[in-house]
Amino acid sequence: MKVLVTGGLGFIGSHTVIALFDAGYTPIILDNLSNSSRRVLTQLTKITGNEFEFYEGCISDRALLSTIFSAHKIEGVFHFAALKAVGESTVQPLSYYHNNVSHTITMLEVMAKHNIAKLVFSSSATVYGDPQYLPLDEKHPISATNPYGWTKVMVERILQDYCTANSDALAIALRYFNPVGAHPSGQLGESPNGIPNNLMPYIAQTAIGIREQLNVFGDDYDTHDGTGVRDYIHVQDLVAGHVDAFKHHVKDVGFHPYNLGTGQGYSVLDMVAAFSQSAKCTIDYKICPRREGDVASNFADASKAKQYLNWQATHDLKAMTDDSWRWQTNYPKGLE
Ligand code: NAD
Ligand code: UD1
Repeated sequence: MKVLVTGGLGFIGSHTVIALFDAGYTPIILDNLSNSSRRVLTQLTKITGNEFEFYEGCISDRALLSTIFSAHKIEGVFHFAALKAVGESTVQPLSYYHNNVSHTITMLEVMAKHNIAKLVFSSSATVYGDPQYLPLDEKHPISATNPYGWTKVMVERILQDYCTANSDALAIALRYFNPVGAHPSGQLGESPNGIPNNLMPYIAQTAIGIREQLNVFGDDYDTHDGTGVRDYIHVQDLVAGHVDAFKHHVKDVGFHPYNLGTGQGYSVLDMVAAFSQSAKCTIDYKICPRREGDVASNFADASKAKQYLNWQATHDLKAMTDDSWRWQTNYPKGLE
């Protein structure tokens, strides 16, 4: 069965391409390379032994989409393509609404024209805004605290309305908690452009000496050690959730949101300690003021995915930091 993977050369999309291939699907990749490199294709071949069909371009390119949908019988679209830097979204909101929302609408229109009615959407725990209670379940009120978050809220809403209006449409919104780790082969992982915003790549780059010191944003939160607590999930568990969700719902219609998290929270200092063990070094850090917009704790109630998809995360923190470190040591500067 052929599926289209938008953003398929990015961090999560590329790992999903492997999982889909391993599960017997034929993933076709569409990516505009705005935050990825063609070299990912080589790595995908190295890992799977397969050459994947790749189209370079934007999800809003109607002609290109029509070419792809005419050339291949696409049964579903895994939609990862998006801009994802929270800070950048606050200074360039229009780019974010344009790329993540308008372009998704265009893609849905072309999909409809070609009778492609199934979509798996990369949503985020960011759609819960400031948590009103923990753990976060799918019934928690939806909100956002920045333009990036609002793009996820808006696309979810659009998909919900689209599924209500089209009785044959299926949309699965997977709300990721904090994806980390890398492919266990050490050949594929996250290579953020410039200075990483997120904790795990920052720790990894500090461990390998690219960054001098980790800034720990606040140690006065109401958590076990005062630093922020998050639900880190191994990318391999995350991508397994995509395959399980698609398999489970492939004959269904409607809008189906799921949390993909472990349900387990770790603090910044827990992450530093775990990474130090994997990298067998001390990670230098200093305590800094809180980062604006951060919350003390955020973790998932992932029981819905367990109940309906029979999915649950199996990789522990050691696997996350070991795999990240293997990738970081193999490719200190990522895939340039
Ligand atoms: P990524 O930046 O590594 O991958 C996104 C890919 O999409 C990139 O390869 C980029 O070149 C491509 N892309 C962007 N806009 C495009 C467009 N208009 N047309 C074609 N390709 C385009 O990001 P990721 O971490 O792999 O995230 C994948 C998805 O998961 C995104 O939708 C993101 O918002 C969502 N998400 C990520 C996280 C996370 O922490 N990584 C958390 C929650 C949700
Ligand atoms: C952030 C985004 C979220 C997005 C997610 C994945 C914000 C407010 N939230 O989540 O919308 O879905 O990334 O892209 O930006 N930390 C440090 N030092 C650092 C970096 C982080 O101490 O250099 C701390 C943070 O304060 C937080 C934890 O580490 O407590 C995790 O931060 P991060 O990896 O950026 O993820 P989130 O903020 O949870």
